[in-house]
Amino acid sequence: MAAKTIISFSSLALTMTLIAISPTSYAAQYNVASFGATAGGRTDSSNAFLRAWASACSSTGPSTVYIPKGTFYVKSAAFNGPCRSSSITFRIDGTLLAPSNYMVIGNSGNWIIFRQVSRLNVYGGILNGRGPSLWACKATGKSCPIGATNLQFSNSNNVLVSGLRSVNSQMFHIVVSGSRNVKFQSIKISAPETSPNTDGIHIEHSMGITVLNSMMGTGDDCISIGPGASNIWVENVACGPGHGISIGSLGKDSIEQGVQNVTVKTVTFTDTQNGVRIKSWARPSTGFVRNILFQHAAMKDVQNPIIIDQNYCPSNNGCPNKASGIKITDVAYRDIHGTSATEVAVKFDCSSMNPCKNINLQNVKLTYGNKVARASCTNARGRASGFVQPSSCL
Ligand SMILES: *[C@@H]1O[C@H](CO)[C@@H](O)[C@H](O)[C@H]1NC(C)=O
Repeated sequence: MAAKTIISFSSLALTMTLIAISPTSYAAQYNVASFGATAGGRTDSSNAFLRAWASACSSTGPSTVYIPKGTFYVKSAAFNGPCRSSSITFRIDGTLLAPSNYMVIGNSGNWIIFRQVSRLNVYGGILNGRGPSLWACKATGKSCPIGATNLQFSNSNNVLVSGLRSVNSQMFHIVVSGSRNVKFQSIKISAPETSPNTDGIHIEHSMGITVLNSMMGTGDDCISIGPGASNIWVENVACGPGHGISIGSLGKDSIEQGVQNVTVKTVTFTDTQNGVRIKSWARPSTGFVRNILFQHAAMKDVQNPIIIDQNYCPSNNGCPNKASGIKITDVAYRDIHGTSATEVAVKFDCSSMNPCKNINLQNVKLTYGNKVARASCTNARGRASGFVQPSSCL
C-alpha cells in the first residue's frame, strides 16, 4: 500500500478531501457536516445527507460519504442510484436517529434505503429507529402504522456492510430485496424480546447474500429468508432473544419463487423460540425449498430447536383445511446439539399434499433440559445417520 498523502482544500461552499490511495486512484470525500448536517439529534440532517450522497454518487472514480461522530437526526433518507462513481464508501462514525414520532415514517416502508446502488461499502455507524413508542401503540390493539425498516438495500449489487449496529427498529431492522452479492459482517442488531416484527435481517428475491460474525437479539426472527432467495450463507452468528433463523414464511402467495441453496453454520441460539426453522402457510403455492444445510448449531433452552412447520395460518385466516403447496426437499441437519425448552426438540410437520423429501439428520444431540427429548414427524421422509438423539422419526 502506498503511503497516504492527504491534501485538503476548500472549493466553493464545500470542503473536499482528496486521499491518495494509489498514484492513480483518488477517493473524493464528502463530509455531511460540510453540507450542513448538525449533530445534537434535533435538527433534521436528511437534506445534508442527501446532498453529500448526490455528490458522491455523481463523482467520477471512488468516493466516500463521511458521517462524523455525534448524533444526527435523520427524518428519512433514500440514497438512490445508479451512480457514476466506481465505488462508494459510507463511513459512519456517528449515530443516526429516526424521528421520535412514529407517524412520520411509520407508513413509509423504510427509514434509510439504498436503491440501485452498486459497489457500496458501509462501515460502522449506529442506526437508532426509536421503535418503543410504536410498539407501545401496537400493544394497545389500536390501529397503528406498520412501522418502518431501519435499513433497506433494494436492487443493489456488490454491497458490503461492516461494523454496523442497528437498534430498536420500528419493524424489520435490515431488508435485502432484489439484490445480488450483499455481505454483512460484524454487525449487531438489538431490540427487546417483546418488540413486534423486529426481524434482524430479512432477505428476499436476492442472490448471494452472506452474513458473517454477527450478533442479533430481537423480538422476531434473527434472520428470515423469504421467497426468491438463493445462495445464502450465514456463518458464526449468535441469535437470541428472538424467533431464530427462519426460511419463511413462504407460500403466502399462490405464485411465488422458491428458496434454494442456503447454508447456516456455526450459530448459537440462546433462549429463542426456534432454532433453525422452515415455515410455510397452509395454502396452495408454487414455491419450494431445496438444498438447505444447517450445520454446527448450539441450542440453549430453545423452544423448537429443529422445526419444519407447514401449517402456519395465523388466526386461521385464508387457509382452513388447506395444505401447503411448498415443496421441501434436500434439507440436512448436521451437528446440532444442546438443550430444548420443550419436550419435542425435533418437529417435522410437513404438508399432506407435498410431504418433505430427503430430510437428513446427522449427529444431532438434543435434550429436554436434562431429560430425554422427542422427535415428531408428519408427512416427512428422509433418513438419519451417525448419532441422533432424540431418536429419529423419519
Ligand atoms: C450455493 O451458494 C454458495 C454461496 O452461499 C455459492 O458459493 C455456491 O456456488 C452455490 N451453489 C450453487 C450450486 O449454486
